[in-house]
Amino acid sequence: MKEELRAYVKGELERYRLAVEGYIIETCEERAAGVPAELFESMEYSLRAGGKRLRPALCLAAAKRAGVDEEKAMPMALGLEMLHTATLIHDDLPCMDDDDMRRGKPSNHAKFGETLALLAGDALFVQSLEFPMAKLKDIAPANVLRAMHIFAKAIGPSGVCGGQVLDIDAAKAKDEPDYVRRIAKLKTGALIQAAVLTGAALGGADEASLSRYADYAAHLGSAFQIVDDILDVTSTAEELGKTPGKDERDGKVTHVTVYGLERAREMAARESEAAKAALAGILPEDDFLVLLPEYLVHRTK
Ligand code: IPE
Ligand code: IPE
Ligand code: MG
Ligand code: MG
Ligand code: MG
Repeated sequence: MKEELRAYVKGELERYRLAVEGYIIETCEERAAGVPAELFESMEYSLRAGGKRLRPALCLAAAKRAGVDEEKAMPMALGLEMLHTATLIHDDLPCMDDDDMRRGKPSNHAKFGETLALLAGDALFVQSLEFPMAKLKDIAPANVLRAMHIFAKAIGPSGVCGGQVLDIDAAKAKDEPDYVRRIAKLKTGALIQAAVLTGAALGGADEASLSRYADYAAHLGSAFQIVDDILDVTSTAEELGKTPGKDERDGKVTHVTVYGLERAREMAARESEAAKAALAGILPEDDFLVLLPEYLVHRTK
């Protein structure tokens, strides 16, 4: 990718990140209303810890292309980030991936203990649905309902939650050739797809463009998880902000353990090409969403 296009994507991601983090601060008081202080502290700790804020960026970008202003779609974008943060808190628990570091800081249970971490994850899960439902007032109710259904379906048993279940059973990979791809599609792809589709749905996008966006985001989600698997073996704790080398330690089924580093890299490139191709004809070639998959394949954290 040309340097100027890379810089453009980087700048857009940074702009989205700052907007989302501004909104997190702005809405802090209303999100804290009625919540026990120690619970809110634990929720907010992980929400503010950092991170790329990719899912809100995808939602806001898709919403804009469907005719919805950034600030109108922001409650949906924050809902996605709250849900993502909840899954990270639970993913790090000792009963799951047992990681003491997340987003460059002690993970939630390392700081607040397992009980509060479990409940902070639950609380963020539920608030991620309640908050957008309460706040998306300037958007046609039918579009909000559509977006919320897409979101809720993606995070449930046939989405993220189901994917996390598949992720704990490495033995199944022996009998199912595409098992690792199925895990990635659910545990990571489902939410990335929901980020794009909720944005488009808020703008009332038609079936044909929703289906193209669904295809785009499915490939983007696969590429994203393949690179996450690669970075686990090639990067450092300092760069990643989480403990590297854990997938192998824990005997996880990943694209690297199944296919090896080189093939995993090829697969990520192929998925990113397929994502880009899915948007051909509906967005210009130099659009942020079209350029993003390739940019993310070359990320270092
Ligand atoms: C990490 O997601 C978990 C996966 C689904 C691979 P991110 O890499 O988006 O984590 P943050 O939000 O930047 O911390
Ligand atoms: C995480 O996958 C997916 C979800 C949190 C739903 P990983 O377990 O690979 O994510 P990291 O590497 O801990 O961020
Ligand atoms: Mg995991
Ligand atoms: Mg993990
Ligand atoms: Mg990982």
